[in-house]
Amino acid sequence: MRRISVLTSGGDAPGMNAAIRAVVRTSLNNGWEVFGIRRGYAGLIAGDFVPLGARDVGGIIQLGGTMLGTGRCQEFKTDEGRAQALRNLRHKEIEALVVIGGDGSQYGSYLLSQTGFPVVGIASTIDNDLYGSEITIGVDTALNIALESIDRLKVTASSHRRAFLVEVMGGDSGYLALMAGITGGAEVVVLPEMEIKPEQVAKELRAAYERGKAHAIVVVAEGARYNARALSAHFQEHQERLGFELRVTALGHVQRGGAPGAFDRLLATRFGVAAVRQVETNEYGVLVGLLKGEVSATSLLDVILNRKTIDLQLLEVARILAQ
Ligand code: F6P
Repeated sequence: MRRISVLTSGGDAPGMNAAIRAVVRTSLNNGWEVFGIRRGYAGLIAGDFVPLGARDVGGIIQLGGTMLGTGRCQEFKTDEGRAQALRNLRHKEIEALVVIGGDGSQYGSYLLSQTGFPVVGIASTIDNDLYGSEITIGVDTALNIALESIDRLKVTASSHRRAFLVEVMGGDSGYLALMAGITGGAEVVVLPEMEIKPEQVAKELRAAYERGKAHAIVVVAEGARYNARALSAHFQEHQERLGFELRVTALGHVQRGGAPGAFDRLLATRFGVAAVRQVETNEYGVLVGLLKGEVSATSLLDVILNRKTIDLQLLEVARILAQ
């Protein structure tokens, strides 16, 4: 009999529950005991463990968020915080921990695994900025939510001949903005990775107006130097001539709270099963993710040392297709 535990950490992502369910039920099928840890690393430090049976993870595969709760925990970055977490894991006789989360959370996984404790990470963040997985849990659902909103904004924008600044999530990463821009047919895309001056955005909008477009959409990542609020303030202050009347919509956390679609449920399920396989074979200190379409394990050291970048050439594709 083995005892393993599972927690979710960082920003919640649609599909986290499906991953928890897969970890729990695959472990139970092995005859193991599973403990969920509430509120991420904060719960690990506080010793907030809850035994999970098959029924406890029933009816959650279709739900966004995380039934365990999550959080960002500064204390876990301290030696004392991690020492307390380790004491709790040992006291509960837990043999391995599965951490479902993004880059900050997997940095925590790495720190814990450096103490010798067996840890397996599962790649989960709507930002899709985690090295070791070409797509992470939650991205597809968040992108579809952003798209649905953009599609609706285009309808009202066309009726009034307006331009919309649509801000999507991505504090440090422009993946969601770039993909929403391409698939939503945006006229301009503004990313943290590639600065574009407000004057240039105004010029593109004006040009779109002069080409006779009925609407224009600017998809802006929240982490861009000029986010939606900054762009709009700049346009007003400098009385930029855009042609279109301007409106601003910040989608914010709406993108995170949706019900996971089929893609995220399946990805999370595959990752959850694979994480338990890592525990079965005692291969720890890794992140489970998707590489070249296959579920794969990447060392946590590589994950924290490398940063996944986005293909900026796609910005040009977006520009060409916005003619
Ligand atoms: O990491 C996911 C994410 O949604 C980022 O895109 C965003 O910048 C951040 O979380 C927001 O964090 P919080 O939920 O703490 O406001």
